[in-house]
Amino acid sequence: MKVEEQVRQTLEGLGVGDEAGVAGLFDGLRTQIERELAGLASADAGEQFRIRWLGRKQGLLTAANDNWLKPAPPALKRAVGRLLNEVKRQAEQSLEARRRELDAGSETARLAVQRLDVTLPGLRRPIGARHPVQIVIDEVQEIFLSMGYSVEEGPEIESDYYNFEALNMPREHPARDTQATLYVAGDYLLRTHTSPVQIRTMEKMQPPLRVIAPGRVYRRDNPDATHSFMFHQVEGFAVDTNITFCDLKGTLDYFFKRFYGEQVQTRFRPSFFPFTEPSAEVDISCIFCSGAGCRKCKQSGWIELFGAGMIDPALYGFVKYDERKYSGFAFGGGIDRLAMLRYGIEDIQLLFQGDLRFLQQFR
Ligand code: PHE
Repeated sequence: MKVEEQVRQTLEGLGVGDEAGVAGLFDGLRTQIERELAGLASADAGEQFRIRWLGRKQGLLTAANDNWLKPAPPALKRAVGRLLNEVKRQAEQSLEARRRELDAGSETARLAVQRLDVTLPGLRRPIGARHPVQIVIDEVQEIFLSMGYSVEEGPEIESDYYNFEALNMPREHPARDTQATLYVAGDYLLRTHTSPVQIRTMEKMQPPLRVIAPGRVYRRDNPDATHSFMFHQVEGFAVDTNITFCDLKGTLDYFFKRFYGEQVQTRFRPSFFPFTEPSAEVDISCIFCSGAGCRKCKQSGWIELFGAGMIDPALYGFVKYDERKYSGFAFGGGIDRLAMLRYGIEDIQLLFQGDLRFLQQFR
């Protein structure tokens, strides 16, 4: 017989004033509840117990009216109500306690399987370092940003038009020979310098312009201590009304003094680039011997760093600027070389071999 039935029959059979009978009924119930709880083997079973005895609507101890008060003789209803509440509270507490025991049991079982050895050494997370080339790019940008320049980028896979043609180097121009590169497909090639960013920027923006453009460039070169088929350049240019060669000299002199130190001198030697006129090679006084002459500067006292010049008016034709109104200067040079001189790195290959012993020195 179900407990509900048993309870009802017992309650209905109670005589007037049979308080002892009520107490007996609840004592029996209490014993049964404790026995059931002790027999629970899992959290699931605990939940089933809760629903059966304490479920919100149909729980045996919860549905007070249906199960307890209705079948009880009127004179005993008070006693039944009081004891019912007591047993119910007790059942709730016991269930809570039993659940904690069950939880603790499964925790012990879990710990037995998943042993944690607190004496094992921890995992060391390797901390990276900035690449020397990136450090230099950041610093060059910093210096030019302080002069009101902005930073532009261009694609590394560049068209023949931007890399050569619009820089005043038509198909058969001999200056192309010194910049042999990989042709990717058709008219596309790995850019040989950052100068195409001059054209791209002038196409999309009007003067006044003050821009630098750092990035990777590629050339057909056999790797040795000073050559790599991939390296980095920074391009810089300014276009406005009345820009003169003086502005170029002042700008680069200021840049090199900030980058290598106040004692550095700059020197401009006549040169040739198809996209600047006049053109110059820019040297700085040797930062190792201050110009006295040493192995690093091949006893000359000077170190060649940048190419530069006034932007050739022919370029304005390609980007539809009025060449009578505007003038500008441009310069470009190797970032890797700036870094090698700064840090005393003698082999450019070290920059690209990914050797952590080398790279971790530049934090
Ligand atoms: N683009 C040239 C080179 O790669 C450098 C340069 C840039 C020269 C701008 C003049 C003006 O060698």
